[in-house]
Amino acid sequence: MNILLTGGAGYIGSHTALSLIDKGHSVTIIDNLITGNKTLIPTKAKHFNFDIADENSIQKILKENKFDLVMHFAGLTRVDESVKYPKKYELHNFEKSKIFFSLCIKNNLKKIIFSSSAGVYGNNNSNNLIEESELKPINPYAESKYKIENFLISKKDKIDYTILRYFNVAGADKGKRSGLIAKSSSNLIKVLCEVAVNKRKKIIINGDDYETKDGTAIRDFIHVSDIADMHVLAANNLLKNRSSNIYNCGYGSGYSVKEVITEMENILKNKLKVEIGPRRPKDIAVSVANSDKFKKEFNWKPSFNNLSIILSSALSWEKNNS
Ligand SMILES: NC(=O)c1ccc[n+]([C@@H]2O[C@H](COP(=O)([O-])OP(=O)(O)OC[C@H]3O[C@@H](n4cnc5c(N)ncnc54)[C@H](O)[C@@H]3O)[C@@H](O)[C@H]2O)c1
Repeated sequence: MNILLTGGAGYIGSHTALSLIDKGHSVTIIDNLITGNKTLIPTKAKHFNFDIADENSIQKILKENKFDLVMHFAGLTRVDESVKYPKKYELHNFEKSKIFFSLCIKNNLKKIIFSSSAGVYGNNNSNNLIEESELKPINPYAESKYKIENFLISKKDKIDYTILRYFNVAGADKGKRSGLIAKSSSNLIKVLCEVAVNKRKKIIINGDDYETKDGTAIRDFIHVSDIADMHVLAANNLLKNRSSNIYNCGYGSGYSVKEVITEMENILKNKLKVEIGPRRPKDIAVSVANSDKFKKEFNWKPSFNNLSIILSSALSWEKNNS
């Protein structure tokens, strides 16, 4: 396959680019490095340092190449920032994606895979979220994903799309070729790794009074390399069949914040400094995917469904990059 991939200097885009290249496919990346890192771009990928809404440059790339399919990862990803600057997220995620997709469609690139988020389910507190569960995004970041999903759905007659709704993506490439690089991340596993390598002093648990087994929030953590492989499976399918679909990307099982901390302490054979803080506004108790649809349709068996593997790979990456 000859794939156009936006956001390939970022965390998930770079892992997916690696997975595609490992399987012999060609990858061209568009990434303006606004939050990405040049070092994450696989050496075998072609990189264009453009904004996805830079119409002239994108038009030129699309005219000069014949891509089979586009994977769109580029975007801003911080929920807290989106609450502070909602218009920024409307512009950078929704408006720019619309411009980009419209150019792709105009240039006959009509097979599309889009990175959506479990955030579209909003306050839907559940340990069994199915793709048909009610959608009610509660922050501007999730709202932007919801609007892009609807934009793609509105073009259904002209395009074939696969929308992938990621749950909590974590871990790093087992060959240490990529991992999460982020300043002041609020991602639990990133924070734990930073505490483990003494980049941070402590981990703050955001609320321990939820109605869960130990009072802390429960999330479905999925290894980034499994997410990457899901894209390759989805791409192969999209090229063979005229179909549009939405899938959850999770393992279908959840771990509480305290369980994740304990597992990391077991790996380190050391206690970490933990403090209990207040709940984050609008945080939910439980968010776990029902991922049966993807498993069934693609005969998918995850390779890294193990919390210890997820944490160890993230920790190795952190150690290598600190
Ligand atoms: N990380 C997660 O847990 C998670 C969960 C759900 C959904 N997602 C979605 O997956 C996608 C990838 O997330 P990530 O964690 O890899 O984020 P990331 O910030 O690591 O990567 C995003 C990349 O997009 C690039 N980019 C942003 N805006 C751009 C623009 N206008 N033009 C060109 N390049 C631009 C950035 O430079 C960066 O390299 C995002 O769309 C995100 O919303 C991520």
